[in-house]
Amino acid sequence: MKKVLTYGTFDLFHEGHYNLLKRAKNQGEYLIVGVTTENYDKTRGKLNVQDSLMKRIEAVKATKLADEIIIEEFEGQKIQDILKYNIDKFVIGSDWRGKFDYLKEYCDVIYLERTKGISSTDLRAKKNNILKLGIVGCGRIANRFIPESKYVSGINVEGVFSLNEAKTKIFQEKFELEFMEINYDKFLEKVDAVYIASPHKTHFEYAKKALESGKHVLCEKPITMELKKAKELYDIAFKNGLVLLEAIKTAFSPGFIHLINIAKSGIIGEIKDIDATFTKLSVGNLRELDKNQDGGSVTELGTYPLLAIIKLLGKPKDIKFYSYKKDEIDLYTRIFLEYPNAIASAKVGLGVKSEGELIISGTKGYIYVPAPWWKTEYFEVRFENQSFNKKYFYKFEEDGLRYEISEFLELINRNSIETYKLTSKESLIICEIIEKFREQF
Ligand code: CTP
Repeated sequence: MKKVLTYGTFDLFHEGHYNLLKRAKNQGEYLIVGVTTENYDKTRGKLNVQDSLMKRIEAVKATKLADEIIIEEFEGQKIQDILKYNIDKFVIGSDWRGKFDYLKEYCDVIYLERTKGISSTDLRAKKNNILKLGIVGCGRIANRFIPESKYVSGINVEGVFSLNEAKTKIFQEKFELEFMEINYDKFLEKVDAVYIASPHKTHFEYAKKALESGKHVLCEKPITMELKKAKELYDIAFKNGLVLLEAIKTAFSPGFIHLINIAKSGIIGEIKDIDATFTKLSVGNLRELDKNQDGGSVTELGTYPLLAIIKLLGKPKDIKFYSYKKDEIDLYTRIFLEYPNAIASAKVGLGVKSEGELIISGTKGYIYVPAPWWKTEYFEVRFENQSFNKKYFYKFEEDGLRYEISEFLELINRNSIETYKLTSKESLIICEIIEKFREQF
């Protein structure tokens, strides 16, 4: 009996999938179909799969072509499956031509012509209209945003706004955007949503106006440095059913999300201490060190360590700051946070370097995340008895902005305004801490 194996995501199951499975089945007598998990798809850069794993399995089952359905959950699984199931032929669509030649060592590898004119990507785009996004600002982070947005299907960066006409023009040309604007009202008329990547001080005005005009907002951190203003923005967003999301990339990355779940699962017992550090020696531009532009290590970098602490312990009952200052700027700050049953500390530095690690200590063990923990690719759960230690690995793709972009789009498409990955409450606690720091500074 000739056994055939094929794999796919099979999202929004379509004719192309059916044709492929039918021809795959004709290649032998027994067809095994591997359906990918959401996690695996995320690690290989497929971020916007719409149907759940169960729904995709059901769709494959409904064709009655598969004799057996298996789940594909990790890289390198194909070799194992071929050996385990005694596969004679590995079959896949022609879009993968050449990519699986390495399997020829184990079985025949056949690339079948794809059905023309249909793909899950196209169907996803048709199902939800492409979101027209405009970027506010054309600095460093805006430059990184556009290449990352290409990994998220269903969103298109249409234009850019900033007050500096010459720079905006250069940015538009560099990324071949549809338009540029130096008039914010006109800019807003042309988009469904905005990504605010302008200097800190301008976030509030731009976000407020966008939300009042019915536009969803993805806003660079910190959204504002005043709690009252941040609350005002969320109030407008909620009232108008709009998404307002703080662009803390770590919060949406697969490794960090799993880290938080593991830490909360009780595996290390009760969390008693968190130590999170983020320092930078290379200061990209003078704005970060300019008091008049809200520079300083807490305003620039505090969001990351506070994210880890607040996600795990919530709002502190007391907080203290100790800083090394120069020219009215904090170049290095330690933040101590006190909780009823735990403590935490965050270290941030601009021009002072420390180990960028995260340690979560519990009553049964601890979690160690090496630098750079905010791009979580690896962490270890450690115990007194080291034989119980466990290591976890993930991929944090390039700049990682694709994760926040994907979440932002998903919320809009689902008509949801809150995500557990970063709630408005958590963003507000971070904002309140930064505000407190500035008051006491
Ligand atoms: N396939 C095909 N013809 C199409 C689309 C897909 O033959 N028009 C094949 C793929 O080559 C693969 C299998 O169907 O062997 C599962 O593909 P999958 O990646 O799930 O579907 P796509 O439509 O290609 O999805 P996406 O657009 O997300 O890449």
